[in-house]
Amino acid sequence: MRLPTVSPSRGLVTFTLVLMMPLFGFCHPGQVSRQSGLVFMQQFVHQGVGFNWKNVTCRLCQTVFTIIDIALMSDANEERLAYVAGEVCSRLHLADERVCRDITELFRADFIQAVQASLLWPTEACALLVGPSCGKFDIYAPWNITLPKVPKPPVTPPSPPKPGSPQSRVLFLTDIHWDQEYEVGSAADCKDPLCCRKGSGTPSWRRREAGYWGTYSKCDLPLRTVESLLKNVDRDRPWDWVYWTGDIPAHNVWSQTRKQQLSGLINISRLVHEHLGPNVKVYPAVGNHESVPVNLFPPPFVHGNRSSGWLYDTMAEEWAAWLPEQALKTLRYGGFYTAEVQPGLRVVSLNMNFCTPGNFWLMVNSTDPANQLQWLVHILQASEDKGEKVHIIGHIPPGLCLDSWSRNYYHIVNRYESTVAGQFFGHTHLDEFQLFYDEETMSRPLGVAFIAPSATTFVNLNPVWHSISEVTVCQRTRQLA
Ligand SMILES: *[C@@H]1O[C@H](CO)[C@@H](O)[C@H](O)[C@H]1NC(C)=O
Ligand SMILES: *[C@@H]1O[C@H](CO)[C@@H](O)[C@H](O)[C@H]1NC(C)=O
Ligand SMILES: *[C@@H]1O[C@H](CO)[C@@H](O)[C@H](O)[C@H]1NC(C)=O
Ligand SMILES: *[C@@H]1O[C@H](CO)[C@@H](O)[C@H](O)[C@H]1NC(C)=O
Ligand SMILES: *[C@@H]1O[C@H](CO)[C@@H](O)[C@H](O)[C@H]1NC(C)=O
Ligand SMILES: [Zn+2]
Ligand SMILES: [Zn+2]
Repeated sequence: MRLPTVSPSRGLVTFTLVLMMPLFGFCHPGQVSRQSGLVFMQQFVHQGVGFNWKNVTCRLCQTVFTIIDIALMSDANEERLAYVAGEVCSRLHLADERVCRDITELFRADFIQAVQASLLWPTEACALLVGPSCGKFDIYAPWNITLPKVPKPPVTPPSPPKPGSPQSRVLFLTDIHWDQEYEVGSAADCKDPLCCRKGSGTPSWRRREAGYWGTYSKCDLPLRTVESLLKNVDRDRPWDWVYWTGDIPAHNVWSQTRKQQLSGLINISRLVHEHLGPNVKVYPAVGNHESVPVNLFPPPFVHGNRSSGWLYDTMAEEWAAWLPEQALKTLRYGGFYTAEVQPGLRVVSLNMNFCTPGNFWLMVNSTDPANQLQWLVHILQASEDKGEKVHIIGHIPPGLCLDSWSRNYYHIVNRYESTVAGQFFGHTHLDEFQLFYDEETMSRPLGVAFIAPSATTFVNLNPVWHSISEVTVCQRTRQLA
């Protein structure tokens, strides 16, 4: 955490502000590179669409944050700040006017609060947003979880299962992104970060309009396609259990409300339940789009209405049929849980929103948020003691996390390589995997994180669900023992 009393650098900040003010307020916007942008807004959308944050110059970023800091010091109200942010967004042509305006509204409270709580300095903010070369920031400060003193058991190299070994069939579903306002015939190539919906306008030429089932463009899914997908899943029975790794709402991140997010969560959860039936357990994970504003998941040190309680409580209610009581408790606390899938196999669902720089709340404290990784270590140690295997599921793949989080996670997977039998993630919308190697030589692969492609077509994709065949655990345990 930053130290609260460092007045010399505050002097420097004021000085910088005086120097940079012209660039910001009084210059003709045309003189500022169009490629520059207010970086924190880029977080709203997946790569390649809408705001571009890699294009922001270090200088512009520092200017923006200097202004925010000064304004906060001079007790400017949140409304004024939001207005300035909106002005910058539209003057620099970062996005369509309407998107700029809406995004400003959305960010008003949460973003400014996070900045206030962290007393963020420009160099720190820009190190966070543009990259470590643009300053230094504590969110990159290293931290270590503690591993138990129990020595790592000797590793037995895995061998392929014998032909005819009993198998489980697991459905792996991710990134549904249901657009509640999808509209057939609307423009598929609009200026907004998400198209094919009410408000996208009329298509410029016939072939670029929203289709009945979906569209190859920056569009999400209509409900009928989600239902059709689930019907197909249903036809492909039997399923032993399901991993469902998050991102239920659409990408209209500039206009979302808590009410809308919750109705999406409730509706889709019930649909999944209906289609898979009461006997198939579904293990969900919390995606970065579940919250509003997108990516912002206050860790448990934030209480009251601003906390994620509104979201986790509804999840706990909707998912109660799938998860045991203790899992619902930690879900309400921090959006993560563990449950026994079958004797000998446990699932751990992580809230990966505590690992990503997109979650501005981590500016306040990025050290093992919610003590989630330390908790993971406890679970894995208990499983090792019992001879149980563990699957880890989550939304954002561990390779896309903050350095310290990633490094600690890697270390944990190394230590518990004989216990962690599989890892399953989503978020990239693509069919990918990430490999884990032994930390000593970085040459022996010891784990793999499977990343499933999305159900949504966003962007230019086909809807997909995956099926995993899992050799039953008893078999595995016998082989490894
Ligand atoms: C951002 O930069 C890349 C290459 O540096 C360029 O291709 C792209 O057009 C830029 N995007 C914007 C919005 O200016
Ligand atoms: C974390 O552990 C690494 C490796 O053991 C060590 O080099 C580093 O100094 C530790 N960092 C902190 C902040 O304790
Ligand atoms: C989901 O939403 C649709 C359209 O808004 C509605 O027709 C349907 O009944 C809802 N389904 C559930 C299970 O809530
Ligand atoms: C809680 O916060 C939400 C979103 O900021 C707001 O819409 C709602 O009115 C607040 N509720 C209370 C009771 O303050
Ligand atoms: C940050 O969070 C960690 C883990 O939750 C906690 O141990 C630590 O005391 C916190 N640091 C500060 C400065 O609040
Ligand atoms: Zn997604
Ligand atoms: Zn995502």
